[in-house]
Amino acid sequence: MTLQRTAYRSAILHSIADPQEVGLDNSFEFFEDGVLVVENGHILDVGPADEVLARHPSGMSVTQYEHKLITAGFIDTHIHYPQTGMIASYGEQLLDWLENYTFPEELKFKNPVYARQVANIFFDELASNGTTTALVFGTVHKESVDVFFEEAEKRKLRMIAGKVLMDRNAPDYLTDTPESGYQDSKALIEKWHNKDRLLYAVTPRFAPTSTPEQLATVGKLLEEYPDVYMHTHLSENKKEIEWVLELFPERDSYLDVYDHYKLLKNRAVFAHGVHLTDCECKRLSETGSAIAFCPTSNLFLGSGLFNLPKMEQHGIRVGMGTDVGAGTSFSMLQTMSEAYKILQLQQQKLHPLKSLYLSTLGGAKALYLDDKIGNLKPGKEADFVVLDLHATPLMSFRMQQAKTLEEQLFVLMSLGDDRTVSKTFVYGEKAYDAEGTTEPEMV
Ligand code: GUN
Ligand code: ZN
Repeated sequence: MTLQRTAYRSAILHSIADPQEVGLDNSFEFFEDGVLVVENGHILDVGPADEVLARHPSGMSVTQYEHKLITAGFIDTHIHYPQTGMIASYGEQLLDWLENYTFPEELKFKNPVYARQVANIFFDELASNGTTTALVFGTVHKESVDVFFEEAEKRKLRMIAGKVLMDRNAPDYLTDTPESGYQDSKALIEKWHNKDRLLYAVTPRFAPTSTPEQLATVGKLLEEYPDVYMHTHLSENKKEIEWVLELFPERDSYLDVYDHYKLLKNRAVFAHGVHLTDCECKRLSETGSAIAFCPTSNLFLGSGLFNLPKMEQHGIRVGMGTDVGAGTSFSMLQTMSEAYKILQLQQQKLHPLKSLYLSTLGGAKALYLDDKIGNLKPGKEADFVVLDLHATPLMSFRMQQAKTLEEQLFVLMSLGDDRTVSKTFVYGEKAYDAEGTTEPEMV
């Protein structure tokens, strides 16, 4: 096999550790004039341009990007691809929103032609927003996940997804049974888990839509396939929590329902966790489970304010999620901007380097994929983005006033969105270019 070596020269910034653990200064690497070398879908080298170029004196094309910033591809730890077509649906909080908007849209995924069309719109949106890995809900239909993985595989994406398990408290047209849900999930795991860059998540929608019998089958699948993911919702909305306690009166808390059925573990990801008690936080931490913080969704559905410092105190793994279609943007930059405001409302601060960490390396850690993705360290898979610090006249003007890297990063997060993403690279290949087919400058 011939190895294709390419290099990209630009400012480069990436997260190398959690600022909470190592301090802000030790949490990142920044090369004002840096070079990133990619070979065979992986990162071969990164560092200051003079040093990297000296280490690779020949046989390498170098593409230079002016006024740009290269960083790792963003990681979205919670999103629903079937909700792409009903994003921005007016007026309801969680339970009515599900009934009035979500379930009718998810019915359409019975048709694999429609599912494939939406999957492609979804992947195009991820690419134009710089997101290279996501943990994704399908619908109850097995085919919704087959077409999703087929399209993800063509794009060489590292994606995690699963079929929704839901056998009660939902319309008949959208329910499975403990037996069919188990068999369909098993077949999908056998077919897709660890195929190329794809991974499977057993996906009970949330406690209210599964019977105890179905939750027991989830525990069984996780026992049979210990390295698959578990992906669900937890403590998002106060009425939802009350309902869970009515449905499972013998359990101590919402999380205790999942705990009872052995759903807490490494690679278990719970979306939201807005209203968690200390006991629940302790269990999440000791089991290596993760929470997906979904700011735009929590604001849009009026669910509540996520307490990030509390999660940190308990040592819980946290990633960022858009939660489209309750979330209102595919952009992880917009998601970081709203996260900042959620902490502000609680008299807390979210430093831009912490946001960068949560959206890249922290997400990778939440997904136990930090040996493969999350930053630009040599050996990792070459998923990265080229961001345009002058994407709009306002951003360009504001950037000139920003003196430090941290200030610039904060402006990028506060004002940035898909207009800020110039290029997205997946497994070493360009998957999106805002300038269309225009060839970048060569040096
Ligand atoms: N809880 C159960 N299902 C859903 C969903 O589709 N979106 C959100 N945000 N919360 C949920
Ligand atoms: Zn969700």
